[in-house]
Amino acid sequence: MRYAILSDIHGNLEALEAVLEDIAHQQIDVTICLGDIVGYYPDPESCIKLVKEHIVYSVAGNHDYAAIGLIDTKNFTYFAYEAMEWTKKQLSESSKEYLGSLPLSVQMDKMLFTHSSPVKPKNFIYIFPNSDIAIQDAFGSMVYRLNFIGHSHCPFFVFQDENKINLHRDNSITINRDYYYLVNVGSVGQPRNYDPRSCYTIYDTDQELVSLNFVAYDYRKTQKKVKNSNLPEFLADRLQTGR
Ligand SMILES: [Fe+2]
Repeated sequence: MRYAILSDIHGNLEALEAVLEDIAHQQIDVTICLGDIVGYYPDPESCIKLVKEHIVYSVAGNHDYAAIGLIDTKNFTYFAYEAMEWTKKQLSESSKEYLGSLPLSVQMDKMLFTHSSPVKPKNFIYIFPNSDIAIQDAFGSMVYRLNFIGHSHCPFFVFQDENKINLHRDNSITINRDYYYLVNVGSVGQPRNYDPRSCYTIYDTDQELVSLNFVAYDYRKTQKKVKNSNLPEFLADRLQTGR
């Protein structure tokens, strides 16, 4: 089996189209979306439509729930808040219904998929590679050996062997069936790992290999749309630096 796992599209249609095109050439059996389909960029409706067409399994991100008022935006940054107010006005009733139907987690083939930390996913706790406490909490609560997340827009692998929790600094990792893994699959629509390319993850069960896949897309087109939509310009600028 080959799984493609993507996250944090954030209304960036050009990025999503490029990633779906890449996935179409990767002999993928199952594609899973880890949420934040909307928020930040100018095409929330089109992104929801594409996700509905191409992806059967999706979980909710905090921006998805914020867009329909299920969580409030008081902890959002200024740019996230501004973009969310804009996004709310773009969504059709059927898109709102779809976002509201998304679960907080999906369990499949002994793997767990959530937007944020698998610990109480409704709290949308961020995990970065240096989030020592959040990482310890996540490993302390794991039921399955493979756990896939998004939310921080920073792709990484962390695993727990017999002795300790380790950060694996590479673009792929071979799975040892005795260890536990936390994989951040990266972001399609707003990478923050100093690389403007979209990032998603493939898990190949035959090779027992989890790999990060980077896809270049025409972010200049997205930047122009941001400016024409009166969304904050910072959101356009950050696309070319990937941060
Ligand atoms: Fe996000």
